[in-house]
Amino acid sequence: MADSLSTAGIIKDLETRFVGQRVICYPSLTSTMDVARQEAQQGATEGTVIVADEQTAGRGRLKRTWLSPRGSIALSIVLHPGVAQLPSLIMLASLAVVHSIETVTGLKSQIKWPNDILIDGRKVCGILIESDVQGSTVNYTIIGIGINVNLRLADFPEILPIATSLSDELGREVSRLSVIRCLLVEIERLYLALSTGGPIYEEWRDNLVTLGKRVRVKTGESVYEGVAESVARDGSLLLRGFDGSLTKIVAGDVTLRE
Ligand code: BTN
Repeated sequence: MADSLSTAGIIKDLETRFVGQRVICYPSLTSTMDVARQEAQQGATEGTVIVADEQTAGRGRLKRTWLSPRGSIALSIVLHPGVAQLPSLIMLASLAVVHSIETVTGLKSQIKWPNDILIDGRKVCGILIESDVQGSTVNYTIIGIGINVNLRLADFPEILPIATSLSDELGREVSRLSVIRCLLVEIERLYLALSTGGPIYEEWRDNLVTLGKRVRVKTGESVYEGVAESVARDGSLLLRGFDGSLTKIVAGDVTLRE
């Protein structure tokens, strides 16, 4: 049975200054990204969080759909970063998820470039970041996080070969409330660390399962194969082709070949 999520339960004694100090919970939504965007356009305070028990039209990267039935976590956070901080948001969101999963469950997870969270090679979390930028002004950014928490993947044959859930990994249910509260604290901690030059890039790079592996990267209509050599500070992937060439990939979809 899914544990219940409520604004009061998430906010009570939450040790943050602004992330999660305003939370709106819905039993069901199309996508938390849509509601967070409306909130942001209406001037929502930084750190406003939209949570849904279930999404009926969850969105993933590269225009994919994202399955988020009851038992999973689906939330979006409104932030107002500076334009120079935008590339680091992917890094901090991924790290916040890895830290929170470990803190709450003890499970170790890894990051697949740019921001898929895997446990033993299977995806447990996806992150979607959308920003409204005009020139050098960021009107708002929304970080959307979906975590497979209490799902029996056997009930979802379409993603069974590539996905996992915290409950499947542990053989017991996990408190979504604990994961969300931990996540909000971590997001704020890392977001504040960005302004003081915390080692977020280095930690993200060191947690990437992708580096040193043979990969296939699809970006737009192009496909590249080679070894994922490194990542740049702006978050892009540096791919060493088998002909020795080096390609910088800003966005794409990676398949690990080994
Ligand atoms: C991906 O891996 O492609 C990203 C998936 C992001 C899913 C989350 S769930 C909360 C938020 N609302 C959405 O519709 N998408 C993001």
